[in-house]
Amino acid sequence: MIYEDLKGKRVLVTGSSSGIGAATAKMFAQQGCFVGVHYFRTKEGGEETFAQVKKVSDGCLLKADLRDKNEVTKLIQNFVKNCGGIDVLVNNAGSLIAREFFADATDEYFDDAFATNVKSVFLAAQAALEYLKKSKGCIVNIGSIAGHNGGAGGGGIYASAKAAVATMTIAMAKEFAPFGIRVNSVMPGLIETRFHEQFSTPERRKQVAAETPLGRNGKAEDVAKAILFLASEASSFITGEYIAVNGGLYMRA
Ligand SMILES: NC(=O)c1ccc[n+]([C@@H]2O[C@H](COP(=O)([O-])OP(=O)(O)OC[C@H]3O[C@@H](n4cnc5c(N)ncnc54)[C@H](OP(=O)(O)O)[C@@H]3O)[C@@H](O)[C@H]2O)c1
Repeated sequence: MIYEDLKGKRVLVTGSSSGIGAATAKMFAQQGCFVGVHYFRTKEGGEETFAQVKKVSDGCLLKADLRDKNEVTKLIQNFVKNCGGIDVLVNNAGSLIAREFFADATDEYFDDAFATNVKSVFLAAQAALEYLKKSKGCIVNIGSIAGHNGGAGGGGIYASAKAAVATMTIAMAKEFAPFGIRVNSVMPGLIETRFHEQFSTPERRKQVAAETPLGRNGKAEDVAKAILFLASEASSFITGEYIAVNGGLYMRA
């Protein structure tokens, strides 16, 4: 699928060293976008995505810990130095970090889960705002099905953080609409990436696939396609909304 209007757009995809972010960065490159590939700990992953982007389009490779305001500010400034502005910000970076139950989770874990998954979105959106105002651009935040169902097996704090991303998407959509900036989110179900290789057993992943109406777990590209739609003209009258990409695992009335 080619969205003609995306050609030449300046797109920053956080967490594109792996999984959903990597697939998204490559798909935007296939549309002819200038793509900011961002990584934090996985340099080789960032380099791999960047090499794929450069095969079909242009872009830049940038490092930042998104929990840190100074690093996020520099990330946005460096991206703009490379291409002159921002049309699309994809706040994809995030992590479960570990499985910790409310009963004995540490304060440090709680703070890290919220800094990684929620504060990162706030900081990046705030730093990008002046540029998005100029471009009348858009933001796509990546939430999670866990934000609806509370997660499972020590994923409750992560789930709570993702619920905050869902609400923040609506609140930002309201605040930024007068500037012509749309803000939406994508809520993935179980997507086969490093995330679940790290945090879920193969048995659990099989079980979820069996429970999923469409009969399989998702691929990173399934999520990337929804992100592209929300960044394109095809969704020009949609804001404060989310798309669930979960094969029917969670359906709203
Ligand atoms: N996979 C799923 O089933 C699923 C389901 C629902 C929601 N999600 C969400 O989808 C997004 C992408 O997940 P994924 O499955 O693609 O996971 P992944 O393969 O583990 O990728 C996570 C990305 O986030 C980046 N990241 C993590 N902590 C960071 C930090 N402090 N600062 C900057 N970057 C950071 C990682 O960068 P480095 O590795 O370079 O540090 C990596 O690029 C996340 O927000 C996740 O919560 C995933």
